[in-house]
Amino acid sequence: MGNIKHIYEAGIDNMVVLISTSLDGKNYVMTSGTVAEVSHTPPLLLTSICPERYTHDIIRKSRVFAVNVLSKKQKMLAVNCGSKSGRDIDKFKEFHLKYRLGECKVPLINGCLANIECRVVAEYPHGDHTIFVGEMVDATVIGNRKYSSLLLSDMNTVGPRFLWEILRKIPGIFILKKIFITQKK
Ligand SMILES: Cc1cc2nc3c(=O)[nH]c(=O)nc-3n(C[C@H](O)[C@H](O)[C@H](O)COP(=O)(O)O)c2cc1C
Repeated sequence: MGNIKHIYEAGIDNMVVLISTSLDGKNYVMTSGTVAEVSHTPPLLLTSICPERYTHDIIRKSRVFAVNVLSKKQKMLAVNCGSKSGRDIDKFKEFHLKYRLGECKVPLINGCLANIECRVVAEYPHGDHTIFVGEMVDATVIGNRKYSSLLLSDMNTVGPRFLWEILRKIPGIFILKKIFITQKK
């Protein structure tokens, strides 16, 4: 038997979502590739979050979160919210995220395929992650979907962000970017 580190190496795929939460009027969001249904009655789902993520501590305090289901067109959003921390920046401002507040006062991100609001009913630290079990309180689902859900396997393909990650290592690229942006104005 060969060794694998992640289950997707065995061909098990998963949806990529944004987990949003709020504390003391401030909003937080991170990308997650671990959402699964736990129970139908009551309706429970889980997401697994590493304690190093800022969102982890915020959810532990706020006891609420929302699962925002992304479409294949929202890959950049997944990359952005999954590569910057709420410790350093306000991702809602930085990435121009439009939202409305749900019943539990969590931000429900506009333009997603679905928004599911949850109250934390249990948390289980295991290995390097904590499993948060949430009871679904309310959900908005967009009908007539033009694009299907974003999957972990979609994240492996090369996108413009990854191209920029390579380009930014070239000395002088920031000066070129500045000139280019000034000319465009
Ligand atoms: C596709 C993708 C899936 C991710 N899935 C998870 C996950 O399931 N659990 C987790 O703790 N971090 C996951 N991350 C990493 C966090 O989104 C990332 O560390 C983020 O910057 C944390 O932000 P925060 O510090 O504001 O909470 C994922 C990142 C990406 C790009």
